[in-house]
Amino acid sequence: MSNAALASWDNAGDEGRVLATLDRWRNDPTHLVQVLREVQEHLGWLPPPALSLVARKLVLPLAAVRGVAGFYAFLHTDPAGRYQVLFSDNITDRMQGSERLMESFCSQLWVEPGKVSEDGLVRVDRTSCTGLCDQGPGLLVNGWAIPGASPERLAVVRELILENRPLEDWPHELFEIADNVRRRHVLLGSDLRPGEAVRAALERAAAVGRELAANERSWREGIPGDSQGPLAVLREIELSGLRGRGGAGFTTGAKWSACRAAPAHTRYVVCNADEGEPGTFKDRVLLSSHADLLFDGMTVAAFCVGASEGLLYLRGEYRYLLESLEAVLERRRAAGLLGHNVLGRNGFDFDIRIHVGAGSYVCGEESALLESMEGRRGIPRNRPPYPVTAGYLGQPTIVNNVETLCAAALVAVHGGEWFRSMGTPRSSGTKILSVAGDCARPGLYEYPFGVTVAEVLADCGAERTLAVQVSGPSGHCIDAGEFDRRIAFEDLPTAGAFTIFDDSRDMFEVARNYVDFFVHESCGFCTPCRVGTSILQGIMAKIGRGRGSLHEIEEMTRLNQVLQMSAHCGLGHTACNPVVDTLKRFRPAFERRLQSLRFAPDFDLDGALAAARRATGRDDPGAYLEQET
Ligand SMILES: Cc1cc2nc3c(=O)[nH]c(=O)nc-3n(C[C@H](O)[C@H](O)[C@H](O)COP(=O)(O)O)c2cc1C
Ligand code: SF4
Repeated sequence: MSNAALASWDNAGDEGRVLATLDRWRNDPTHLVQVLREVQEHLGWLPPPALSLVARKLVLPLAAVRGVAGFYAFLHTDPAGRYQVLFSDNITDRMQGSERLMESFCSQLWVEPGKVSEDGLVRVDRTSCTGLCDQGPGLLVNGWAIPGASPERLAVVRELILENRPLEDWPHELFEIADNVRRRHVLLGSDLRPGEAVRAALERAAAVGRELAANERSWREGIPGDSQGPLAVLREIELSGLRGRGGAGFTTGAKWSACRAAPAHTRYVVCNADEGEPGTFKDRVLLSSHADLLFDGMTVAAFCVGASEGLLYLRGEYRYLLESLEAVLERRRAAGLLGHNVLGRNGFDFDIRIHVGAGSYVCGEESALLESMEGRRGIPRNRPPYPVTAGYLGQPTIVNNVETLCAAALVAVHGGEWFRSMGTPRSSGTKILSVAGDCARPGLYEYPFGVTVAEVLADCGAERTLAVQVSGPSGHCIDAGEFDRRIAFEDLPTAGAFTIFDDSRDMFEVARNYVDFFVHESCGFCTPCRVGTSILQGIMAKIGRGRGSLHEIEEMTRLNQVLQMSAHCGLGHTACNPVVDTLKRFRPAFERRLQSLRFAPDFDLDGALAAARRATGRDDPGAYLEQET
């Protein structure tokens, strides 16, 4: 854990640190994001001499390095203060009082949000959801997560900052994050030993090899049975009907088969642990308490598709998990579960590396994720080609969610039929829900697919529920009339978020928070999304000020159509979802704010003339305009 340094550049020491970081990353420009993140961990920010040195050593244009540094929310090209305190700004954090807490924290430290204090000590700001909705409000201090912000805990944080104590010396309890598992099934209840799924895959393959070898003699002389091995495991994945848990629900077996079939020098397995969807925190728990299951899943995937390298894209907000995940990888190397000839199988070489993100939701989109891993800004690629044929470094790559890979490990052990016996016809297996918001017991709940919303609400102790946001802002908001709907791809698909709002909540404010999120996270590459989300935010603000009309409501519906048709990636396509859904189900929350059913101007003409009145010294009734509303 490194404390942020002062905003000066000391030639001897700092240059040495940057060079050492570059050396560790082999001066490879594809590691640019990792280099910048680590340089910042040492220096507290990215001063111009550091950026120039990085550009020179990586043989990149300085503008390209600056462009990357400027893209990621957690990279700072200006002095950011010795302590950077970021308040998580998900709607659940707000419901738990994050705004009030931040205000009083700022006023006690005499700082303005978003500005570094005059002595360079501290900067306080907001950040997108930190994945701590079950124990919010969440905070990040110099990138390290602190759950359960309260006036008392913040008083401790304030004192530590004022004492200038290095983060290493802060009380460990501040950083303790609970798993909050409330309902276990096959995944959260898994007690597989490290490597058990890899062993099972190799055995299954060997068994098929033996079977074919026996058959060979009778009917297919000469076909080497062993080459059928990985295919036998892949067939179990196909048979299981496993579909991706990252949101889109693509069939895992089909993705793996396509990657296996694509011509390649090298194939890659990428685990998407970006988990940026507000309200989702299930991957956090799988990473912290079931890392071996995940790495087993990645190794099984590598065996099936013939990959030799694995990459785990860990979101920046989960930086605190890096050392423990590295330790698990090291143990697995020592146990022969990674490296050359995995578990003694000739030619099965596979290892896993971790890439830490730097604060960008769009990097969860699989092609943006690959861009980021190759050292660029996280801008989604044009497709086709898809990652399965041209992914990481142009090679065939599978990108899968953490939960998908954990489920694949279970399939390797128990088989496809077993997995298919759980869930619904089109959604086999179980789903982990990240339950947060207005309920007595927030946390993780794992159910076979097909569970109704009402059952989940009863289990987590939700009362007087007005709405549930399923799958976060890019998903759907449903009302009480729909609580008999089922969590399943054939009804309500979800990446995991299950956010509950009771009848004390204002659904307009909920939608507004989600719109702000999309504006903040739009990568800016395409005009419909960059401009459209800002216009949407402006309209919501106008309605919020009580100056909206039906015209604004119609504008938002039109914007939705434009974004659906013309945005470049899923973020833009779904950016209007929160507004469209809330309008459909909770229209009074909007209508009671409308000033007029016709167009209402937001520009205050009389207010704009105030400066002229002051300049001319006039304050008589004739100097005022009456505005028609
Ligand atoms: C804006 C955006 C953000 C996304 N964020 C994530 C994410 O955080 N985690 C994830 O697994 N998938 C995310 N996805 C979906 C991925 O692009 C991809 O479909 C997924 O990682 C595939 O894995 P799966 O087949 O196992 O679901 C996101 C998609 C979009 C459009
Ligand atoms: S839709 Fe938005 S996030 Fe996606 S590429 Fe366009 S600007 Fe970027």
